[in-house]
Amino acid sequence: MAKSTLSFVCQNCGAAYNRWQGKCDACGAWNTLAEEDTTGATSMPVSIRSKRKSRVFALESLAGKSVDAPRLPTGMAELDRVTGGGFVRGSVLLVGGDPGIGKSTLLTQATSVLARAGHRAVYISGEEAIAQVRLRAERLGLASAPVQLAAETSVEDIIATLSEGTVPRLVVIDSIQTMWTDTVESAPGTVTQVRASAQALIRFAKKSGAAVILVGHVTKDGQIAGPRVVEHMVDAVLSFEGEGSQQFRILRSVKNRFGPTDEIGVFEMTGLGLREVSNPSELFLSERDLGSPGTAVFAGIEGTRPVLVELQALVAPTSLGTPRRAVVGWDSSRLSMVLAVLEAHCGVKLSGHDVYFNVAGGLRIQEPAADLAAAAALVSSLVNAPLPPDAVFFGEVSLSGAVRPVAQTAARLKEAAKLGFARAVLPETARGDAGGDAGLSLNAIGNLTALVADIAARGTPRKAAATGYDDDGNGGGKDTAMRKNTPSPRFRRQ
Ligand code: TYD
Ligand code: MG
Repeated sequence: MAKSTLSFVCQNCGAAYNRWQGKCDACGAWNTLAEEDTTGATSMPVSIRSKRKSRVFALESLAGKSVDAPRLPTGMAELDRVTGGGFVRGSVLLVGGDPGIGKSTLLTQATSVLARAGHRAVYISGEEAIAQVRLRAERLGLASAPVQLAAETSVEDIIATLSEGTVPRLVVIDSIQTMWTDTVESAPGTVTQVRASAQALIRFAKKSGAAVILVGHVTKDGQIAGPRVVEHMVDAVLSFEGEGSQQFRILRSVKNRFGPTDEIGVFEMTGLGLREVSNPSELFLSERDLGSPGTAVFAGIEGTRPVLVELQALVAPTSLGTPRRAVVGWDSSRLSMVLAVLEAHCGVKLSGHDVYFNVAGGLRIQEPAADLAAAAALVSSLVNAPLPPDAVFFGEVSLSGAVRPVAQTAARLKEAAKLGFARAVLPETARGDAGGDAGLSLNAIGNLTALVADIAARGTPRKAAATGYDDDGNGGGKDTAMRKNTPSPRFRRQ
């Protein structure tokens, strides 16, 4: 038996220390160090190591014959899109997401489909009792699928069971945080345990050729709980996202050694489980509030697929010393950047206003191409001018205020035309694929100033009393909310 080694392990990133300290030097998190027994966690016992003879192995060239990774398509198109064409045999996939988002539901559905197709599919639940899993399967109408089910948490027992009989094609471990292995002494759920259990399961997958799916919990700040190191160890990481209050769920690939990382799969949670949504644009635009100021439709691209989504902005005078900036579904630093460009180059004074920004439908946008649509929504809300309901927007805004071209113009325009939009506001120099043949009338914009002037010309500013700035009593020309609303001294932050 190796000597027991106690050390302090960061529960966020897995870094180990000899002494306790308040802050983890590796990831900067506070109060995440917990005492763990790391015996055997990182290496095999010395007695085995010293007896092992080194083996000489052959080195290969890059230009060898390669075979495509053998795939296991589930037939659920949205899931297969995100994995890159199905689960890869002998690979390990980590699925993360908030509690209650539908991870167990999604994987129950996937295992059932594969089991019905005649593959050996095993579902190991470490969180729920067999009765609970059965109840869910019944609700999903999948109780008759020949899935092999167990409620177990010992990794050694699980691997021994799986190694018997035919090799399983798919193994779901729900969740990795509940698993424990004899080789380390720490309690289940600790970094050391999670890492060692994941390692054992990865070894099993590589050796047997089974596709193993690990379910992982997510911490408050959205990272897969426990060690980030598990993310490095597995072949692919998918994250299952969605706003709790909405029934839409988005499966996003964060890392994928065998496929694309920018694809999304869209699902809807119904009483009968997750339903695939093959045309997300229709869904994201389905509850559009036509003709209200502060909304703009962004023609975006998610992976290979164009997705139209409504951006909503609310700009209101602030009563605070430092105005509020609240963002859902978009990067807050990106919003700050667009606000700064509007303020510095377009004469739009927003430093005395609270800004609320939301992406409809629970989608998270990562493309810089959303800048132009976001700016349009913000200005539209500020000057109280609805944007044309049949227009889509896309384009990147640079710090100088120039509107920069973005990729895949043609695909964006085509999707917009398909959904009945008549015009597009886009960058002047569309890169390569201008593609005006989609039948839309194009309004090419070189600088954000032009867009702001356009929207302001449509505007009927909110009543002077509401903004509090229109003190020259001219009754509100298009410029009042825009240029003459220099904030009074109490709004200045200096
Ligand atoms: P679950 O898959 O248990 O979530 P996770 O494993 O990510 O924690 O899903 C739980 C939620 O989904 C629960 O709040 C109920 C809801 N749900 C439905 O709305 N319809 C269904 O058919 C099922 C099975 C669950
Ligand atoms: Mg679950």
